[in-house]
Amino acid sequence: MKPPITIIGAGAVGTSLALALHAGQYPIRSILSRTAAAATELATRVECGDAAGLDDMRLPSDGVVFIAVPDDALPEILARLCAAHAHAERHPDSAGLAAPEGDDCGPVVLHTSGALPGDILAPLREFNASVGSFHPLMLFPRGRSTGTEFTLCPVAIEGDVRAAAAAREIARSLNSRAFSIRPEKKTLYHIAAVFASNYFVTLLSVVERTGTAAGLPREEIVTLFEPLLRQTLDAVLRTTPHGALTGPIARNDRDTIRRHLDALRDIGDERTLSLYIELGLATARLAKEHE
Ligand SMILES: NC(=O)c1ccc[n+]([C@@H]2O[C@H](COP(=O)([O-])OP(=O)(O)OC[C@H]3O[C@@H](n4cnc5c(N)ncnc54)[C@H](OP(=O)(O)O)[C@@H]3O)[C@@H](O)[C@H]2O)c1
Repeated sequence: MKPPITIIGAGAVGTSLALALHAGQYPIRSILSRTAAAATELATRVECGDAAGLDDMRLPSDGVVFIAVPDDALPEILARLCAAHAHAERHPDSAGLAAPEGDDCGPVVLHTSGALPGDILAPLREFNASVGSFHPLMLFPRGRSTGTEFTLCPVAIEGDVRAAAAAREIARSLNSRAFSIRPEKKTLYHIAAVFASNYFVTLLSVVERTGTAAGLPREEIVTLFEPLLRQTLDAVLRTTPHGALTGPIARNDRDTIRRHLDALRDIGDERTLSLYIELGLATARLAKEHE
């Protein structure tokens, strides 16, 4: 039987997860979010009768809880869950969780951060929870989640044995591609993801800025550069970064590189100049790697 799901954080990832799990016939038990209205809106979409703000947060006695909030908010969520549990234990008649029943019971609690290990949720083990992390290696732009993002999405999983097993089972039923990551390596893994997505986006903003400086119409730049971008990515995916490298540094066209540097100095674009030099040095090292 599919475990009931609680989602904490009705943002980009929380929304996609709720939609995907609902489509996969998982019962969505509760949606909690900082803004009660956001929780209610998502709950309506996934036929969930229990939506609330964080003040009403409780750790359920079973099922799977996903925490999909910004990394910096995780300690606060954790503190609230611990305090709510302690309160429920002192006032057993108040709404809250059932008493722990043994090692194989209790909730599984997974956060979706790429940078932090599941162990950050360790205090919840005291309440019979099994903890871990479930990081979709995918871009979830806010306000545009459909739930289909999880199909074939690689998901990095680590944590307690029971939590990791539950996470893998969920990934399997969402048709995602689960893979293991060592908890102590998550920061490095996340740096790789930041380069693959965030810094790549930043680089594209440099393409836009420099293209505009070259007199190209801003609204056409993406279209004009799209074939080059796609071909570059295809070449890297088909071969290796080194195998896909072309351009003045790979060819050792020194005069061209000098002209590039002069042109950036001429237009006074110091930001692009320093990025060009830094990336140029990295590119030269890459070009030399297989000489
Ligand atoms: N976006 C991505 O591409 C992506 C990909 C993989 C993993 N992740 C990870 O997934 C997690 C959530 O990311 P996201 O992109 O879904 O974030 P998000 O869209 O900004 O949503 C964050 C959610 O957390 C709530 N929240 C925001 N600040 C809070 C605070 N200080 N205290 C408590 N709750 C707070 C928000 O509530 P309200 O909306 O109700 O205010 C919102 O529901 C992060 O760990 C992130 O690293 C993100």
